[in-house]
Amino acid sequence: MAEVRLVDVSKRFGGLAAVDRVSLHVPEGSFYTLLGPSGCGKTTTLRIVAGFYPPDRGDVFIGTTRVNDLPPYLRQTAMVFQEYALFPHMTVFENVAYGLRMRHVGSPDLARRVAAALSLVGLIGVERTFPSRLSGGQQQRVALARALVVEPEVLLLDEPLSNLDAKLRVRVRTEIRQLQRQLGKTVLYVTHDQEEALAISDRIAVMDRGRVQQIGTPVEIYHHPANRFVADFVGLANFVEAEVAGPDTLRVGKVILRAPLDGTRQHAAQGGVAGGRVTLVLRPEAIRLHRLAPQADNVLPGQIRTASFLGTLARYWVEAAGLTWIVDVPSPGETVYGGEVFLEIPRDRMHILRES
Ligand SMILES: Nc1ncnc2c1ncn2[C@@H]1O[C@H](COP(=O)(O)OP(=O)(O)OP(=O)(O)O)[C@@H](O)[C@H]1O
Ligand SMILES: [Mg+2]
Repeated sequence: MAEVRLVDVSKRFGGLAAVDRVSLHVPEGSFYTLLGPSGCGKTTTLRIVAGFYPPDRGDVFIGTTRVNDLPPYLRQTAMVFQEYALFPHMTVFENVAYGLRMRHVGSPDLARRVAAALSLVGLIGVERTFPSRLSGGQQQRVALARALVVEPEVLLLDEPLSNLDAKLRVRVRTEIRQLQRQLGKTVLYVTHDQEEALAISDRIAVMDRGRVQQIGTPVEIYHHPANRFVADFVGLANFVEAEVAGPDTLRVGKVILRAPLDGTRQHAAQGGVAGGRVTLVLRPEAIRLHRLAPQADNVLPGQIRTASFLGTLARYWVEAAGLTWIVDVPSPGETVYGGEVFLEIPRDRMHILRES
């Protein structure tokens, strides 16, 4: 079994709580991502799993074994470091072979396994090259092959794509995901790139200042963020301060909106009390933009202030109800609007947070 579990794990550096009471369960064979801004504790968490830092408190399990006191090489993990950490004085072959030599793997087997690992990551013909002669993308693949070659139960990947250009990043992340599926590995992956996390993960833990803010599938994290930090960090959102006006209505300034308050967990969360303050979270693509007033609930007349054509979508900043709303229109073709418009806010696309 190669699931990973962290139970109430903390790690301080001096006065700083780098990892603060983190509990995670990474199911066997799943792709699990730690997502959060720089300094939130992602690398520290990964290093605790790998065994490079002992936690100050809490337990780390790999499978059913508590590994707190196991050295890294006995943990069935392999880590790809944020900065690759290839050995500059060794060829690609020797870099990849390193872990096998440490494990006293003999000659024909060693060569075969190095070749297999390099072929898995699509690197053939560079075995005798030194890392400094390779592109960032190739070095990243060598680092990945070096981790894969020891056939770890758990792969720990720390921002392995951060030095690649945008296109290559998308290609390699897809390859990593395919490889993970093909080999059935448990992967704990670290990134600060929310799009990357949404694209490849089974499950995401969003972190901020050492703490887990939310754990969920990409869809849950994006559409049902637990708090403002998550909503803001993952994707773009309109945050609208509102007051509960009735059993299924919210007041935004002078405007009344029909909202999914009744019988939902949001309603329970904010107590359903008239006068209570909530924050409405609306993704830009959830708001519909019309040239003519539609026959629908929650329609606000507005004025386009700025428009931005982005190819796959057109993004508008629209003045309505005394606020500026960001609205995305998918697949705009060659059409970019200006002037007066109507915003429609569908009830089922509203996400309501109690905090305001
Ligand atoms: N060895 C260390 N000694 C002292 N402080 C450290 C050490 N390692 C990390 N920190 C601090 O702990 C916090 C978390 O660091 P960590 O490297 O885990 O963040 P991160 O989420 O990986 O950030 P990044 O996205 O920039 O890599 C930071 O404030 C960092 O400065
Ligand atoms: Mg880091």
